[in-house]
Amino acid sequence: EKGGYATFMEKEIHEQPHAVGDTLLGRTDIEGRLVLDDMSITEDQLKDVDRIIIVACGTAAYAGMVAKYAIEHWTRIPVEVSLAHEFRYSDPIASERTLVVSISQSGETMDTLMAVKHARELGALTLSICNTHGSTIPRESDAVLYTHAGPEIAVASTKAFLAQITACYVLGLYLAQLRGGTFADDAQSVMKELHEIPAKLEELLGRMDRVKEIARFMADTRSVLFLGRNVGYPVAMEGALKLKELAYIHAEGFAAGELKHGPIALIDAGQPVFIVVPGPGTPHELHKKVVSNIQEIRARGARTIVVAEDGDEDVVPFADEVIRVPATSPLLAPLLTVVPLQVFALHLSSAKGLDVDQPRNLAKSVTVE
Ligand code: F6R
Repeated sequence: EKGGYATFMEKEIHEQPHAVGDTLLGRTDIEGRLVLDDMSITEDQLKDVDRIIIVACGTAAYAGMVAKYAIEHWTRIPVEVSLAHEFRYSDPIASERTLVVSISQSGETMDTLMAVKHARELGALTLSICNTHGSTIPRESDAVLYTHAGPEIAVASTKAFLAQITACYVLGLYLAQLRGGTFADDAQSVMKELHEIPAKLEELLGRMDRVKEIARFMADTRSVLFLGRNVGYPVAMEGALKLKELAYIHAEGFAAGELKHGPIALIDAGQPVFIVVPGPGTPHELHKKVVSNIQEIRARGARTIVVAEDGDEDVVPFADEVIRVPATSPLLAPLLTVVPLQVFALHLSSAKGLDVDQPRNLAKSVTVE
């Protein structure tokens, strides 16, 4: 049942090219237009949407954070991300022109379900991104966009996360297309690049030997930091969450720009820090800025483990380790950069002799508030 892998998590990490590919499957009609399933929201209603609120918990909320950057860029519709358990109690503002997008692998997370119900009470349109057919959250929503990751057995989410991000991109591109004009042209070219991701993931998964080795050597580590910027910021948060869940190690993810506002005080000799580097093509010189962050923390003794695109030579002088990922456009990079962080957490957990698939104190779906 584990298909030759030692754990479900390892199997599911290797299913990620399919999780992304299958989630993209059948999303375009003959004219090349994107299609969604189970839509009881009309195109006109969607054209009128002037605000999007994403509600989710844990890993799904990090998928939402990635989505915020992408959807805002492609559509110019303001997007906010609200942890589902905070949403309902924050006296949220919503109208019939607000689209509340819930993201949930299980479709049964009580916090997320209650947020969706509250959104409906406020008169908002509700769309569920979900991996489980027939589950409660899609039933309670006006529309559904199913992710096709297949059943996820390991408690820690991996392939569902990639499928969630993919579904969010599809939604963003669909909304861009509805807006027409240059938005629609951009959507076409991004969609093409998105279809190249499964093959790039396949290639990336074949390069993980060094990451496994790094993990094995770090079994005694007490704390690991993760830095990222833009869409790399939620990836850093997700890397830290995976490590907490699976290896019971203190881990924190930061926006790299925040470093100098406090967290840099944590850096001392030997502190391991993962840095998710934006591709050199990222706007606003973010690549250069993150490279100088790496330089700064290295000068203070950090052990820098750098996740960087193929061909990015700028990071080399300041990296103790370089983990290479295939190049893609900046907003799509999370589908690739998160993979080494998942593999790292998995192998650190098994190096410590822990139960990878069933971490302590956790359940696969959290059906209480
Ligand atoms: C992390 C993890 C959790 C879930 C969260 C939401 O590995 O599994 O953080 O992502 O509990 O679960 P769903 O997506 O089922 O609503």
